[in-house]
Amino acid sequence: MFKVAVIPGDGIGPEVISEGLKVLDALEETSSLSTQRTMLEIGASRYLRTGELLTEDDVDTLARQDAIYFGAIGDLRIPTGVLEKGILLAMRARFDQYVNLRPIRSWQNFSRLKNEAPFNITFMRENTEDFYMGTGGTFRGGKGKVSLRVKRSLYDLGIEMHASSSVPDDFAFEVGIHSRRGVERFVDFVVRQVNQAGLNKVTVVDKANVCTDLYGLWREIFMEKSERVGVELEFIFVDAMAMSLVRNPDRFGSVATPNMFGDILTDLGAELQGSLGLSASGNINPSGISMFEPIHGSAPDIAGTKRANPFGAILAAKLMLDHLGRADLGMRIERGVEDAMGKGILTPDLGGSSTTSEVGDAVVQYLSRV
Ligand code: IPM
Ligand code: MG
Repeated sequence: MFKVAVIPGDGIGPEVISEGLKVLDALEETSSLSTQRTMLEIGASRYLRTGELLTEDDVDTLARQDAIYFGAIGDLRIPTGVLEKGILLAMRARFDQYVNLRPIRSWQNFSRLKNEAPFNITFMRENTEDFYMGTGGTFRGGKGKVSLRVKRSLYDLGIEMHASSSVPDDFAFEVGIHSRRGVERFVDFVVRQVNQAGLNKVTVVDKANVCTDLYGLWREIFMEKSERVGVELEFIFVDAMAMSLVRNPDRFGSVATPNMFGDILTDLGAELQGSLGLSASGNINPSGISMFEPIHGSAPDIAGTKRANPFGAILAAKLMLDHLGRADLGMRIERGVEDAMGKGILTPDLGGSSTTSEVGDAVVQYLSRV
């Protein structure tokens, strides 16, 4: 039995997560799968009521699970960044989920771009470092001191900054950081994935021609490690990667990216598939607790309209089962999604007219049939 914490969150989060849970129910009825679910109210409504983001109690409960199944957070009543940093990024850092795994594949031809050939790309996004450290500040009037502190499982890093400008202007900054250990463990994961996929090459994204230190160390470690294990590297700058993804997505297999570029490129990848609504991701800690979520956000503009696409959340449940060692069931979910698509049971973002729950029902029907 797997213990799964369920955090539906805000906006369309609860609507799509309930379809994912329906799919898990159907698998429990037709296979040996069994889950024990703990629902947690973490997100905007609790924050507005109590001021709490990710609490120590939440962390204690989550720490006892085998996996976390997460919807989306974000609410127009709350300043942007509060929930994102206080909940989602906090969870990724707290549980040291250092890889964000985002498969991007072609389904039917949903995309506005003409895809000449099918593609199947595994994006691995480093998920705890880069510009996502929460190490920013502003020197008002161009003067002052800032003490930064980053606490991660791997290290507790203090940085002192002191500014003195020739003109009395405001200067804002955000520090991007890579640690040797942080990149090494990420590269180890990438190499394992490449081997498991039966490939021997990985595309490594960065902007080492401009951010020479931040991505210089990144490259150095990729080169050291890959040479040792005989994996071929293809380095590509992020701007060229954006272009190539649109032009020839079929030329990529395994792709490794730093945190921020991975955020951007996987939204692009999602649209190559046809919709942000059908992409899923796993925030992976290979020896800890991983969290699975659709890559879309809370989409408050369509919340409550039954238009939300649940495929992303359903495929996040697939990634969770793969991770828990039940790739056989993960495969069934993927087939169920293909079957629903084949029947044209699609939400409006994919050009259909079905509701969120009709799409979930279609996947459930497939699972009950086979
Ligand atoms: C994602 C999201 C998050 C990110 C936000 C909500 C903090 O865009 O999972 O891609 O930037 O990682
Ligand atoms: Mg994103």
